[in-house]
Amino acid sequence: MSVAATLARARLAARPQPTGSVVGAMGLTLTVEGVVAAVGDLVEVGAGLLAEVVAVSRDRLTCMPLGEISGVHAGAPVRATGMPLQVPVGEALLGRVLDGLGRPVDGLGPLGGGVDWVDLASETPHALSRRRVEEPLPVGVRALDTLVPVGKGQRLGIFAGSGVGKSTLLAQITRGTEADVRVIGLIGERGREVKEFLEENLGAEGMARTVVVVATSDEPPLVRLKAAFVATRIAEGFRDQGRDVLLLMDSITRTAMAQREVGLSAGEPPATRGYPPSVFAMMPRLLEKAGPGATGSITGLYTVLVEGDDHNEPIADTARSILDGHVVLTRRLATAGHFPAIDVLESISRVAGAVTSPARMADAREARRLMGALRDVKELVEIGAYQAGSDPLVDRARMLSPAIDAFLRQALEDTTSPDDAWSMLHRLVTAG
Ligand SMILES: Nc1ncnc2c1ncn2[C@@H]1O[C@H](COP(=O)(O)OP(=O)(O)OP(=O)(O)O)[C@@H](O)[C@H]1O
Ligand SMILES: [Mg+2]
Repeated sequence: MSVAATLARARLAARPQPTGSVVGAMGLTLTVEGVVAAVGDLVEVGAGLLAEVVAVSRDRLTCMPLGEISGVHAGAPVRATGMPLQVPVGEALLGRVLDGLGRPVDGLGPLGGGVDWVDLASETPHALSRRRVEEPLPVGVRALDTLVPVGKGQRLGIFAGSGVGKSTLLAQITRGTEADVRVIGLIGERGREVKEFLEENLGAEGMARTVVVVATSDEPPLVRLKAAFVATRIAEGFRDQGRDVLLLMDSITRTAMAQREVGLSAGEPPATRGYPPSVFAMMPRLLEKAGPGATGSITGLYTVLVEGDDHNEPIADTARSILDGHVVLTRRLATAGHFPAIDVLESISRVAGAVTSPARMADAREARRLMGALRDVKELVEIGAYQAGSDPLVDRARMLSPAIDAFLRQALEDTTSPDDAWSMLHRLVTAG
């Protein structure tokens, strides 16, 4: 436990603790009287239900439970805990699966003494104290490492419709990355999928050096929302030790939906397509926490669900405006069995130039030029209207097309080192 947390607990233990009571419950909120607590603190309702104070007045607290509200009755006792939600950080978390509030759910026993407890709230590094993103962070996926390179401290969105392969790509990256530590937040996923993700996609090798925070779709909205911040806080703990952390969040859309439920229930008006303003305030608050620190870095990969493949939906739009790059997965590739279904030409890494040598950039540009040429004549070729010989670039691209395809397709269990990926790409663009 950190010194601050120990002190806070000691102060609390020394203080008289009046017990208050629940005077009302409506929607997701509880009204409590007789307890003194600050906004952000936790109170305990009855035996063990934690609730966060979201508003205070002279004699009342408005609280949101971090658990099931059913069964809470008027008059139920309420006790102040004197502190906000505490999150475990440290080495002992590696290989563990935690719930949305940071409690282990993997049946491997309590976290023990190897962790420190810190407040969930943390200071976002100031813009001017941050280093720039200038080193690549290889992820083991050829199409990304060469054509949409990820930099240490970059924040990248993975945009796709449902079932196009977002989660599988995250698992592949988790296994293939060279990052010291990976933290995965699974927010609002179906319970069945989580098990499949952990056991089949991630596997034992993926789990080592990884911390997973899970809040499935049946959890209360505040727990789902907290889970995203808990995963981020755990990543910050590792970053502050000077480590390069890869934070993977699946999905930012479901986190935004959780915030929507919380906001609407607290009486906020719906603004853009049913999302209240707090959603658009939460997103930068969460996403800005990733990035390079004074030492260490958090590289953030966030999946964004684009409903009905509508890339201008408000959450996707907001995410795109905050993040430093986007990877687009398309259903067209996925249904053709082309995995990972990355649409390279639609995907952009804003740090590509800063993390790649000029010679490699030239190869990447040439590869994109060939792919662009193929895309431009695709329809002509399909209807048989393209005449071989009419454009040398197109002819070359068509000849190389099977090799380009082989380069871009990559089996889930296959990891390619960045040097191998770059030399494959170099051979490809200089062939013929
Ligand atoms: N690399 C891959 N190799 C083979 N099949 C894949 C691959 N990636 C995805 N798939 C297929 O696509 C399906 C959906 O993948 P996945 O669950 O990763 O999609 P998703 O975008 O996360 O979906 P959701 O929107 O439901 O979360 C998988 O069950 C699998 O059949
Ligand atoms: Mg998924």
